[in-house]
Amino acid sequence: MSEQQFGFHSTAEEVSAGVDLRGKTWLVTGVNSGIGKESARVLALRGARVIGAARTAAKAEETFRELGIEGTPLACELSDLASVRAAVNQVHERGDALDGILANAGIMALPNLAQVHGIELQFFTNHIGHFVLTTGLLERLGAGGRVVVVSSGAHRYAGPLGLELENISGSEDYHPWRMYGRSKLANILFARSLASRFATDGSKRTAFSLHPGVIATNLTRHIEDAAALMAPMKATMKSIEQGAATSVYVATHAGLEGLSGQYFSDCAVAKTLAQGTDDALAEELWRTTERLVAELT
Ligand SMILES: NC(=O)c1ccc[n+]([C@@H]2O[C@H](COP(=O)([O-])OP(=O)(O)OC[C@H]3O[C@@H](n4cnc5c(N)ncnc54)[C@H](OP(=O)(O)O)[C@@H]3O)[C@@H](O)[C@H]2O)c1
Repeated sequence: MSEQQFGFHSTAEEVSAGVDLRGKTWLVTGVNSGIGKESARVLALRGARVIGAARTAAKAEETFRELGIEGTPLACELSDLASVRAAVNQVHERGDALDGILANAGIMALPNLAQVHGIELQFFTNHIGHFVLTTGLLERLGAGGRVVVVSSGAHRYAGPLGLELENISGSEDYHPWRMYGRSKLANILFARSLASRFATDGSKRTAFSLHPGVIATNLTRHIEDAAALMAPMKATMKSIEQGAATSVYVATHAGLEGLSGQYFSDCAVAKTLAQGTDDALAEELWRTTERLVAELT
C-alpha cells in the first residue's frame, strides 16, 4: 500500500499492515487510555516490546492484562519531576535499548489555573514532563530511532500570543484552551528541536509531531459539558482505531527520514500555525525548558 492510500479513515492496524517490529522496543506514555492504549496494542501486534508508561505501574499492568500483551510497565507521573526522573533512571538501570518513544499522554482544558512547580499544569504535563523523560532517555535511543510527539490541531488555540514563554506560570490571564494550545504548540516545537539535533549527531534518528484527529476519549474529562462541545464535531470525528493511525504510521512507516521535524495529520505532512515552524522559537523553548528544569532540583 502506498502512503497516499492512508488518510482520515485509516486505522492503526491498516497503516502498519506488514510492518515487522519484532526485536524493537517502543516506550509509550499514556498507555492506559484512549489513543495511547490503541497505539500500544498495535505496536505490540506488530511484534514490538512495549514499555508502557502510566501515572502508576498498576495502571500500565492492568492495561497490558486487558490487552493480553506482555508489556513492561513504567510508573511515570508526568506532572511530578521526581516521578519522571525515577522513570528515566529505571529505564537506564534496566539497560533498555529503545527504538522509539511515543510521547502521547496529555491533559486538556483545565477549567481553572492549576500549577506544579510554579508552572501551569497542562504546559508542565504535556511539554515539560515529556521533555524531561525524552531528553533523559536519548542515550538509550538507538541509531534510526524515532521520537513521536502527539500534539493537536488545537495548537492553534495558542492564538496570536503564541507560546508566551514569559507567562509559563499561566498566572496572567489564564484561559483553559489557550494554555492547552500553548502546550501543544510546544509539542510541535520540541519535535522540531529534536529533529535538528538528530540531524547533526550522525545517528539517523528522527522526530515528528502529529495531530491524531478528534476522537472521543477521556481527554474531555475536565470539560463540564463535553457532550455538547463534541456534538457539532460528530461528523468529523475518528474512532479510537483511526485516532491511533497517524501515531502508528509515523512511528513505523519506512521512508520518513527526510521528513524529520514535520507535523503530520491523517498520515501526511500538515501545516501548523506559523509559530510551529519557527526554529528560533523552538530553540528558545528548548533553552527555557532546560533552564526551568535545572532550577527544579
Ligand atoms: N482525543 C482527541 O480528540 C485528541 C485530539 C488532539 C490531540 N490529542 C492528544 O492525544 C493524546 C492522547 O489523548 P487521548 O485522547 O488518548 O486522551 P486520554 O484517553 O485522556 O489519554 C490520555 C493519557 O494521558 C495520561 N496522562 C494524563 N496526565 C498524565 C500525567 N500527569 N502523567 C502521566 N500520564 C498522564 C492519562 O492517564 P490517566 O488515565 O491516568 O489520567 C491517559 O493515559 C494527548 O496528548 C492529547 O492532547 C487528542
